[in-house]
Amino acid sequence: MKLGILTGGGDCPGLNAVIRAAVRKAERGYGHSVVGFMDGWRGVIEDDTMVLDIETCRGLLPRGGTILGTTRLQPFGVENGVERCRATLETHGIDALLVIGGEGTLSVAQGLYELGFPVIGIPKTIDNDIDCTEMTFGFQTAVEIATDAIDRLHTTAESHDRVMVVEVMGRHVGHIATWAGIAGGATTILIPEEPFDIEEISADVRARHANGRFASTIVVAEGALPREGTLEVAEPEVDQFGHKRLGGIANAVAAGIEARTKFETRVTILGHVQRGGTPNAFDRVLSSRYGVAAVEAAHDQDFGQMVALQANRIVRVPLTEAVAELKLVDPALWATAKDLFRGA
Ligand code: F6P
Repeated sequence: MKLGILTGGGDCPGLNAVIRAAVRKAERGYGHSVVGFMDGWRGVIEDDTMVLDIETCRGLLPRGGTILGTTRLQPFGVENGVERCRATLETHGIDALLVIGGEGTLSVAQGLYELGFPVIGIPKTIDNDIDCTEMTFGFQTAVEIATDAIDRLHTTAESHDRVMVVEVMGRHVGHIATWAGIAGGATTILIPEEPFDIEEISADVRARHANGRFASTIVVAEGALPREGTLEVAEPEVDQFGHKRLGGIANAVAAGIEARTKFETRVTILGHVQRGGTPNAFDRVLSSRYGVAAVEAAHDQDFGQMVALQANRIVRVPLTEAVAELKLVDPALWATAKDLFRGA
């Protein structure tokens, strides 16, 4: 069998570990060969490939980013994109295409599967918002980076008795904010799932400071929004693929808190630091498990499936179910977070 593999959408720690594991399983486990497509769907549309074998994948396990490169270009947005993809797969004799991506890339994979393409999905994103899997790879590394930042901000906040507002990624969901906020002992966590009230947050901060020096750390997901009419926020720019370019809600939150409490407030926007660098041990293991399981699914010709983590086992779920809805923060975890931060 000949397998193709691509990485699409935003990068994330663990992509190279998936590629390495898939190549090892394909070559050693089954004697299959693997072709890498460059820059996500662009490589399939434009027939741009690289050879992937155990030798070319040496040293990849801890390396951040993706050796295949990634873009947000996709066949349904390009003239004759689907036909060009079909032609490329035929040229290379590809029997199965492993698609490593988040919501956008996997939705395209599902669309192509419905048109007869032999695809297998692998869930990637630091945002952890893919449904039907308990964890996407990259998420735990991002949480660790954000938690480390919050810990560091705590000590400087205490020295100056300041309010620190830390913005983490999370376009539609607040998984990183919730986990890092709990782990870092945040005063308040703001997530897209629950519009916030700047008056309530300011009251919490004031209450903390009522007995003297008591610094506060507010963790805000980039996609968090105020309750309608309670705080003015700038409309984000939209990129060429129609994605809002988020980042900056922390500035509005900080200004709102400072204006109401008169406490000195500072902003840290973590941004792409959360996506770069080496995957942690958990993500290296999860990525490796996903890579191996995806090749097993391809070998079984079980197309239209996504590998997923459920009850600590790797299972297969239909892509159509995985991309139907985003996975929001579990209400029970959110309730626990609130028990810890609300007003304390
Ligand atoms: O991968 C998802 C994500 O990390 C979002 O949380 C964030 O809004 C987005 O990527 C940023 O992507 P870009 O690389 O296009 O700035």
